Amino acid sequence: MSRYAYVNGRYLPFRDAKVHVEDRGYQFADGVYEVCQVRGGRLIDERRHIERLQRSLGELRIPLPMSVKALGVVLREVVAKNRVRYGLVYLQISRGVARRDHAFPSPAVTPSVVVTARALNMRRNEALAATGIAVISVPDNRWGRVDIKTIGLLPNVLARQTAIEQGGRDAWFVDKDGVVMEASSANAWIVTAQGALVTRHADHAILRGITRAVVFDAVKGQGLSIEERTFTLQEAFAAREAFITSATQLVLPVVKIDGRIVGDGKPGPVASALRREFYRYAEAG
Ligand code: PDD
Repeated sequence: MSRYAYVNGRYLPFRDAKVHVEDRGYQFADGVYEVCQVRGGRLIDERRHIERLQRSLGELRIPLPMSVKALGVVLREVVAKNRVRYGLVYLQISRGVARRDHAFPSPAVTPSVVVTARALNMRRNEALAATGIAVISVPDNRWGRVDIKTIGLLPNVLARQTAIEQGGRDAWFVDKDGVVMEASSANAWIVTAQGALVTRHADHAILRGITRAVVFDAVKGQGLSIEERTFTLQEAFAAREAFITSATQLVLPVVKIDGRIVGDGKPGPVASALRREFYRYAEAG
């Protein structure tokens, strides 16, 4: 099936979906993005993703070049044109096209907007969640504002590649004190031996995940206790369960960290229940 993308006001077949060589996203990673899950053809937690997009844009002083309502129409149109029932929609906004110069273009140019969508394989994702994944730890070598969802993802790319080359599926960024920050494209969680859910507090050093926020609601809804604090790799080794959360993988159990088995080496009941219950707490629109 042919795919379509939205590029600066036009819906184009993929082969024609191109941005300018002097787009600042391409040259400087001067832009932001969002990834929303699509389920039953509907966008999951669009409102919160768009709120975070606006925050990211604000931090970089890039104006949103269209109304939120119009953006919602574009996201839906791209999902529909690509006939995605279960998958993801990707939105990227860069500062725009200008002669290469590190400083912001003056006068300002219109930001570039690109939207793509693609199907995901539900059976494969469910199979992955049923077995759980192995992660490896890598030093967190990212900049100090990873709360902004920028398209500058080179450390994340390298971390993921290292994980795959070592037989894992994902990497956990760990700081110099052994504190687990987050995964390469997901937030990291553990369930302690006492049964408490722990995930790192969200400041400038991790991304405040939308799935993370929905899981907070689900945890409260199930009467479980939650601790928003730092946890170390050592604590994770001793955890009863571990998992990661993201828009594309939802709640994905982690059964091995740096070659050490977590819990009994199988997805635990807490992560499995949160995955099952997720859509009761998410917004579909
Ligand atoms: N990544 N942390 C990082 C570094 C991320 O890149 C992501 C999402 C998350 C989870 O955020 P959310 O729950 O809002 O998806 C945490 C997306 C899915 C990606 O880059 O593809």
